[in-house]
Amino acid sequence: MDRPPIIAKTPALLRVPPNAPLSFEESRRALAGLPGGGLNIAHEAVDRHAAGPRATRVAIRWRGAQGARRDVTYRELGALSNRFANVYRSLGVGKGDVVFVLCGRIPELYAAVLGGLKCGAAVSPLFAAFGPEPLKTRINLGHGKVLVTTEALYERKVSKVAGEMPTLAHVLKVDAAADRAKLDAASDRFAIERTTADDVSFLHFTSGTTGMPKGAQHVHGAAVMHYATGKVALDLHDEDVFWCTADPGWITGTSYGIVAPLLHGVTSVVDEAEFDAERWYGILEAEQVSVWYTAPTAIRMLMKAGVELAKRRTYPALRFIASVGEPLNPEAVWWGMDAFGMPIHDNWWQTETGGIMIANTAAMDVKPGSMGKPLPGIEAAIARRGEHGVRLIEHAEQQGELVLQAGWPSMFRGYLDQEERYRKCFADGWYFTGDLAKRDADGYYWFVGRADDVIKSAGHLIGPFEVESALMEHPAVAQAGVIGKPDPTLGEMVKAFVELKPGNEWSEELRLSILGHARKRLGAAVAPKEIAVSKALPRTRSGKIMRRLLKARELGLPEGDTSTLEESGE
Ligand code: PRX
Repeated sequence: MDRPPIIAKTPALLRVPPNAPLSFEESRRALAGLPGGGLNIAHEAVDRHAAGPRATRVAIRWRGAQGARRDVTYRELGALSNRFANVYRSLGVGKGDVVFVLCGRIPELYAAVLGGLKCGAAVSPLFAAFGPEPLKTRINLGHGKVLVTTEALYERKVSKVAGEMPTLAHVLKVDAAADRAKLDAASDRFAIERTTADDVSFLHFTSGTTGMPKGAQHVHGAAVMHYATGKVALDLHDEDVFWCTADPGWITGTSYGIVAPLLHGVTSVVDEAEFDAERWYGILEAEQVSVWYTAPTAIRMLMKAGVELAKRRTYPALRFIASVGEPLNPEAVWWGMDAFGMPIHDNWWQTETGGIMIANTAAMDVKPGSMGKPLPGIEAAIARRGEHGVRLIEHAEQQGELVLQAGWPSMFRGYLDQEERYRKCFADGWYFTGDLAKRDADGYYWFVGRADDVIKSAGHLIGPFEVESALMEHPAVAQAGVIGKPDPTLGEMVKAFVELKPGNEWSEELRLSILGHARKRLGAAVAPKEIAVSKALPRTRSGKIMRRLLKARELGLPEGDTSTLEESGE
């Protein structure tokens, strides 16, 4: 069904006119820089506000899962992050080290992350819904030196793999009496390590089709992009109350849940609890959220709960809604009109880009189903990579890989210890995103699908290899193949096919045993939701599982090119 675009209101009709486009140079000038030279995200995000007129403004408005509330001002966040930085420094942490943070959404997480940046370390936030295996894998791949966590998360997750992380020298539990005492005793003053725009700030793990996760290295200079996109793509204004619903264990929750709102000195709402439709509407209303950044899965769950629930409350402060992470159905954009009187503005980016690249901004007409247009300073194109180099597809409506001209300020600078894999992402000055897309005649980009086998479930990027590896640790499993199966709420759900070792019979009991094993090792967010048995998984002649074929068979789609399929395959 084709419906016309949703036309943007003219600025005169808006209470707050949209921000004007901003160049990277203007954005760079809006940052302060470290006293004496250099750039550090934590200085831009906290310390300069703590020392200025925003000192007593609320930086983090925290809502605890059990009903507790806590407001942390910029001054307090500056002081608390200084305590963390002093404790890290006393442990010998500095440039070149990696601090992992696994805390769930509590105020200490924000201070622990910012403290790590102040020390000059790279910070890697971890998703609290990961099981022990993904946590261990990431800490080991990142050569983590310090882990900041809570007593409960340590007990439930980390303790299961405690002896298996050789580089991890220190664990700091923010709610344990001894560590609390260390933090309390530490000075709340700290001179930030002199970092430059090219020094590593964050290490974010992301997944590909093959192999274990990749640690995408980001730099302090990314602050330029976070500032610019906060202004243009999220339309942040000085007095805003902003709510990014993403968990900081994923890059959206870091770039836009921590960095961008603090750079702009606005108040950020942080909710510790998991999704709940009533609770979310309650937060939007009670906290007077004005700019809301959320995700398609959440919107679909709200839609499921019925628009009446949304309409039981009023949201006079709400001005702009954006969404990211997976395709946003046109129905969801229109539902925004119904529930809140405004469209949901889709935008696009990925871990490697560090910040929003393509967006429907507040000033733009929204074409429901489109990701929007490249932001100022971002050159995007649709391309094919062939034997004779990169061919840009100039024609509108033609599908190809979405590429970006390399060099934007928040571009990842490497995959840790995987130089070759990093280099392969680039050709002729273009960065290849791995997404298939098209551009229409008006310059709007439309997402088509992934060019590889990674799975997007509830907005979380899941690498099939990591799941397959965990399944194969089960004593009855010989081989596993994992795919993303379309799901009306999650976008995709993880589905596994397993081949059993000789002497094992498929039964409900065995299915539950494998499922239980996967949940325990991987955590609920990553483990398969469905497991089926396969007598012989389809393999290439070189023995690689053909996930593409598994998926085609599951969905009853044409099998495509099967010339590499091993004859003995199913
Ligand atoms: O496939 C695209 C999808 O999510 C991928 C990036 O995932 P991740 O690295 O976890 O980054 C999360 C930060 C956004 C992309 O390669 N994706 C992201 N945004 C959209 C999207 N797919 C469709 N529409 C979007 N707006």
